[in-house]
Amino acid sequence: VSSTPVYLDYAATAPLAPAARASILEHLDLVGNPNSLHGPGRAAHRLVEESRERLAAAIGVHPSEILFTSGGTEADNLGLKGAFWAAVAERPRARGILLTGAEHHAVLDTVEWLARHEGAVPFFAPLHADGSVDLPAWEELLARHAGDLALSTLMWANNEVGTVQPVVAAAAAALRVGVPLHTDAVQALGHVPVALRAPGIASAALSAHKIGGPVGVGALVLGRDRTPVALQHGGGQERSLRSGTLDAVGVAAFAAAAEAAVAALDAERTRLEGLRSRLVEGLARAVPHAVVNGPAGPDAVGRRLPGTVHVTLPGCEGDTVLFMLDMAGIASSTGSACTAGVAGPSHVLMAMGADEATARCVQRFSLGAGSTEADVDALLAALPGAVAAASAAGPASGRHDGTVRRTETTKGEAA
Ligand SMILES: Cc1ncc(COP(=O)(O)O)c(C=O)c1O
Repeated sequence: VSSTPVYLDYAATAPLAPAARASILEHLDLVGNPNSLHGPGRAAHRLVEESRERLAAAIGVHPSEILFTSGGTEADNLGLKGAFWAAVAERPRARGILLTGAEHHAVLDTVEWLARHEGAVPFFAPLHADGSVDLPAWEELLARHAGDLALSTLMWANNEVGTVQPVVAAAAAALRVGVPLHTDAVQALGHVPVALRAPGIASAALSAHKIGGPVGVGALVLGRDRTPVALQHGGGQERSLRSGTLDAVGVAAFAAAAEAAVAALDAERTRLEGLRSRLVEGLARAVPHAVVNGPAGPDAVGRRLPGTVHVTLPGCEGDTVLFMLDMAGIASSTGSACTAGVAGPSHVLMAMGADEATARCVQRFSLGAGSTEADVDALLAALPGAVAAASAAGPASGRHDGTVRRTETTKGEAA
């Protein structure tokens, strides 16, 4: 992985998987535009359609339900804006969007934009302290606002904390009151099973570079009965919903990466849970006041991403810890967005109930296919020094007193 010896930021982007690499090398010299009618064009078209079939088979949907996009962000934008405009055209009163505050910015900012410019009305469902949606509250909001809702959206797995949401149940509840659901499955694909055809799921966003595919390729999985309004107009590609010449080499590598990730899912899940346990147990010794966020306990394995460890390090600014670890050759993340180079507090942790000062003191370690015990041990060796330096550098939230409780132990406990 690049020049960094220990790469613990798979959730940001994963190194190219061998299958994707082989696919890219095999097709790199492909010339044709998939829409051209001559031989090279037909070859490119064939590669796109074969890739569509392979990806569809890997994720359990019909090939016609896949629209290739430039990534997860575009898929979220099309899934949300397109569905919102289609719903409002049918039912002008239905301007509500049901969501939670833990969504990725590709969803949150899209909904915010729709609110600011298109009259959308967001309804936020509350979260438990482990980051999972409060399902009875979700259902209650659906029942109360059904007639006013254009759509609902719930991510399959959270990119910061790693919490897996009960999307199947949330979509079924939405379906009962006639509200479609879009799910951002970018972090879930290849890491936990995803049932993208579960009743009520109208669309799902996927991204290749989170599973070892190339950056710049993704997909919107869209039910055949769905007719969102297109955001891009032009050549009429992808059911006329996403015009633009497709990156045939990229989509082939995406399909290869997805096949490999899904085939390895069970074994990798067990292996990564093992590495995760090593990290969490080592962390309790190396940095005893660290707080591991997200689902925990005996039933937590199915409710979180196997390779994500998200911690609060009280009194330690996230970007300072990141910098200190980077100096030690370890790539991690605060998980939250930067504005003008300054790391903001984690909006996810705040949606889970944390105050802003705490939400600045977080670090995400995300493991993947190439991660090893040696990587975990290197982190555990470097972390106490990074934490000490960050503490000395001056915490934004005042000094910790060592009494912070672990948020992972009890669902509903304050973060
Ligand atoms: C949950 C989630 N949704 C959407 C995206 C955006 O995907 P992309 O980078 O392919 O645009 C990301 C990537 O950061 C993500 O983690």
